[in-house]
Amino acid sequence: MKNLSFQIVPMKRSHLPDCAKIVASSEPWLTLREGIDFAPSMKRKEAFVCIAGGSVAGFVVFAAGPAFARGGYLRAIGVAPARRKQGIGRKLLRFAETNTALTSPHLFLCVSAFNRQAQSFYRKCGYARVGRIDGLIRENVAEYIFWKRLIPAKASRIRHGR
Ligand SMILES: CC(C)(COP(=O)(O)OP(=O)(O)OC[C@H]1O[C@@H](n2cnc3c(N)ncnc32)[C@H](O)[C@@H]1OP(=O)(O)O)[C@@H](O)C(=O)NCCC(=O)NCCS
Repeated sequence: MKNLSFQIVPMKRSHLPDCAKIVASSEPWLTLREGIDFAPSMKRKEAFVCIAGGSVAGFVVFAAGPAFARGGYLRAIGVAPARRKQGIGRKLLRFAETNTALTSPHLFLCVSAFNRQAQSFYRKCGYARVGRIDGLIRENVAEYIFWKRLIPAKASRIRHGR
């Protein structure tokens, strides 16, 4: 990825087949037996893709917020299986963080307890597990809440009510 040119652009209808392929071949959606309807997020301008080497390498969907506890919310992130471990996920996540930090000093996300690989990825990117909700999406499957502070508390000039 270091030598590969890439750009992160708003998701368009023409990107949907590639994004759907990523979802259809990846956890957590395989185990949860669900897909992603990107249309509402596209409408809200919350869905983006990474184009690398001329094709869709991954996607990220996030609400900059504040959505919850002064934080934005990362709805989904996925990288094409053949293009993982090349830094694309980190670039997509950094894009979400940079844009979220314009309005919210934190970013939250949910990750399934069985999705250990994604948890390792998030930890490497500076996220900490701060909560757990049992059966949020599927019975007998827990979701962990992960959190990252994007702006140091004292430096934050963003003012919100509780
Ligand atoms: C999670 C995911 C987005 C990571 O994307 P990626 O492009 O492979 O990640 P990167 O190459 O940017 O990796 C960033 C860091 O995370 C680490 N990492 C990535 N995947 C990892 C894995 N499976 N296990 C352990 N560490 C991992 C990398 O080693 C790297 O750390 P380093 O910089 O110290 O070397 C990708 O694996 C994916 O699409 N998974 C399926 C969908 C998914 O689980 N999404 C999250 C739903 S909550």
